[in-house]
This record gives sequence, C-alpha cells and structure tokens, in this order.
Amino acid sequence: MTNTGFENELDGADEQVRREHIRCTLKHGNEPRMGDYFDSLARTWEENLEPCGAKHRATAFLAGVKPGSRVLDVGCGTGIMAQAYLDAGAAEVVALDVAPGMIEIAREKFAREPRVRFECASIYNFEDDRPFDAFVAYNVYPHLMDKHGLARKAASLLGEQGRFIVAHGLGRKTINAHHDCVPAHICTHLETARASAQAWEELFNIDQIVDTDEYYCFGGTLKSAAL
Ligand SMILES: C[S@@+](CC[C@H](N)C(=O)[O-])C[C@H]1O[C@@H](n2cnc3c(N)ncnc32)[C@H](O)[C@@H]1O
Repeated sequence: MTNTGFENELDGADEQVRREHIRCTLKHGNEPRMGDYFDSLARTWEENLEPCGAKHRATAFLAGVKPGSRVLDVGCGTGIMAQAYLDAGAAEVVALDVAPGMIEIAREKFAREPRVRFECASIYNFEDDRPFDAFVAYNVYPHLMDKHGLARKAASLLGEQGRFIVAHGLGRKTINAHHDCVPAHICTHLETARASAQAWEELFNIDQIVDTDEYYCFGGTLKSAAL
C-alpha cells in the first residue's frame, strides 16, 4: 500500500481544511473515507496482487470452508480469496468491500461464477437473512476500527458451528511497518494475535492462534450462548 490517500491530500492544507476533514469524519464516521481511500488504490492493488496461493488456501481451510459452505469474505478487495473458497468447495460466497473500485474489478474477474456475489457495503451495516458457516477477514483487520463491534457482527451473521478467522498473509511486524505511512483514521496497529483475540473471547471459543514472521491469524467458533 502506498502513501497516496488523505495524508497526501492534506499535505499543505490550511487549518480550515484540516478542521473540515475532522468535522466530516466526526459526522460521518470513517467508512466513507475508508471507501474513498481504498477506491483510489483499487487498480494498483489489483496490478500488484499476488496470485491466489498457499496462504489463501490455508486461510480458507482454517476458516473451516468445506463442500457446501456459505462464506462471508469481509474487505474482499479485488476478490483474491474467492478462488480459495471455491477450490475448498464453497456453495456460496458473499464478498464485501466498502470501495466501489475494488468491487468493480472483483465482479469483472468472477463475472461467470454464479457462486460468488460481490457487494459494495461496510461489514458494520451488512445484514443477511441466512446464516454463514464461515466469516473471514483476510488482510483487513487493521482497517476495521471497531473490533468489539466486528466480533458482535460476526456472531450475528454466523450459524451454529459457525467459525470466524482474522488472518494476514504477512507477519505482524511487517504489516505494522507497512502501515506506518497510512493515515491513522484508515488503520490501527496490529497487536499480537493473542491480544487481538481478546475482543472476540466473550462470543467465541478461540482455538487458533498463529503469530509468525510469515502469517498471522486467530480464529474460533461461536459459543452456544451467543446464538
Ligand atoms: C488491505 S485491503 C485487502 C483486500 C483483500 N482482502 C486482499 O487481501 O487483497 C482491505 C480492504 O478492506 C476494505 N474495507 C475496509 N473497511 C471495510 C469495512 N468496514 N467493510 C468492508 N470492507 C472494508 C477496504 O476497502 C479494502 O479494499
């Protein structure tokens, strides 16, 4: 990710413009600006995307995706994870992103695949009438600002035996270094997987934690009391 978002836009801006940006953020929350930020990166993101490979398939596996699964992919970008779910046998994939440019590219790539539906929406506003088997947030957690709200949303969307995973195809230190130049309203610092998982423990039994230089994840299953 490059430093091409609002930070640049505000470089040299006078105090009044800065105040207006802050006022706008307070009024509308971060999501419209999050969408704008990633929208501006969509083409470059797709050009630099590594092919769907071992880490994506491992993530689908750890999320418990199997033949017949219904999967929710949060912050799908240009759709990198979709093929991994299909390869694991998913019957239906709903993939969300707040950036219209990301969704447009993803839809072009999977235009002939009826099992995948891409929606331009924030996970915080998303609702559905049928439960999901797997809730996956791949390479997006630092950008999901309300962690407890996200855990509650995951619990509300998953069915019995439902499983969530928060995962990154890079290690935490690399990701945090990478985000040093990203505006603070666009991302949070990634804590250790064990510390991050605490926000989910009230609703989920955490049974997966990986925090290495190459991969990061935590995941678990919905507690029956949360159903
Ligand atoms: C770093 S990109 C990762 C994209 C994709 N998962 C990948 O690995 O290529 C994070 C994506 O999450 C999206 N995003 C951020 N906040 C979101 C939210 N609240 N709901 C849905 N998507 C969101 C951004 O628009 C962006 O496309």
